[in-house]
Amino acid sequence: MSLQLKPRTTVRAKITSVGTYVPPRLLTNADLEKMVDTNDQWITERTGIKERHLVDKGVATSDLATEAARACLAKRGIQPEEVEVIIVATVTPDMMFPATACLVQNKLGATGAWGFDLSAACSGFPYALQVGAKLIESGAHKKVLVIGADVMSSIIDYTDRTTCIIFGDGAGAVLLEPCEDDEVGLIDFWHEVDGSGGVSLNMPAGGSLNPASHETVDHKDHFVHQDGQAVYKFAVRKMAESSEGLLSRNGLTGSELGAFIPHQANKRIILATADRLGMPLDRVVINIDRFGNTTAGTIPLAMNTALEEGRLKKGDLVLLAAVGAGFTVGATLLRWEF
Ligand code: UT7
Repeated sequence: MSLQLKPRTTVRAKITSVGTYVPPRLLTNADLEKMVDTNDQWITERTGIKERHLVDKGVATSDLATEAARACLAKRGIQPEEVEVIIVATVTPDMMFPATACLVQNKLGATGAWGFDLSAACSGFPYALQVGAKLIESGAHKKVLVIGADVMSSIIDYTDRTTCIIFGDGAGAVLLEPCEDDEVGLIDFWHEVDGSGGVSLNMPAGGSLNPASHETVDHKDHFVHQDGQAVYKFAVRKMAESSEGLLSRNGLTGSELGAFIPHQANKRIILATADRLGMPLDRVVINIDRFGNTTAGTIPLAMNTALEEGRLKKGDLVLLAAVGAGFTVGATLLRWEF
């Protein structure tokens, strides 16, 4: 019996569309001044954030992800039934199971798609991009939706001034498709994990270690716990190291990039990274002032901002970089192809 094997392919993946969604309700620094002992000047100087968008009760991560996916597909003129895979990067799934990707598949009407969730916190989007790219490169699929979505307000203690000022809710989706002959698309990825950093940023309860109980609720263990300075120091170092590593192994320097689209955790972390890469600030995409830290949503939201502002042109080399809970580190090098 002769086997009819699928031929190997060497095709690359490219991003062909970007869509985003943030809920309409705003939480401004002035609102936070009324909730905790903080002020606009402190928040602006220490983080760069002015306002964030928050969901209303009953709106979940799958809702934001579905809206972002709809916008993404509409821009490309593609029907939901044509989508083959849905990957949702999130740390705030609607529920422990089923995966948010399954809920999105149903809400979107992507009847031909399979999918799954990916948990890598703020590095979730670059991680999911690589997984999606490999599904295209292998020849297995031709239309992969990669979504970064989080409803951080569902796990934030709005009496804790050290965390509640930082986070927001939001989602972004990109469509991955195979490159045409002369295109380059997603070039290279740099990912790391340092699990010793898990203690510095986590949500202690709700999993198998500390299932929900009256005690976990009383101890506020279903909220984000963060050692801000430890995360800050790791992020400043690793955003730069991963970016430099990825650029240098591709024979590039920061000055050759058309755009740097970093995870939006803190404006000071972004500026320190850009400085170390020698990136002129007009090529660094920053929208943290409007959205705060939306965890897996920040990079596609910033990509969309760059598109809206006309700062991404076909042929531009683009670097994405993120650091998040885990600790996780993720960077992507790509050539913009539309
Ligand atoms: O995506 C990954 C997720 N997380 C991050 O990336 C977070 C990384 N870390 C950070 O962005 C920063 O560490 C923070 C924004 C969280 C904090 O900024 P910081 O410059 O590291 O402040 P700090 O923790 O050193 O606190 C300085 C002071 C403290 O007061 P004392 O002890 O000096 O009297 C804090 O109690 O600021 C105080 N403080 C605040 N004051 C006003 C902390 N939070 C606030 C606040 N408003 N919201």
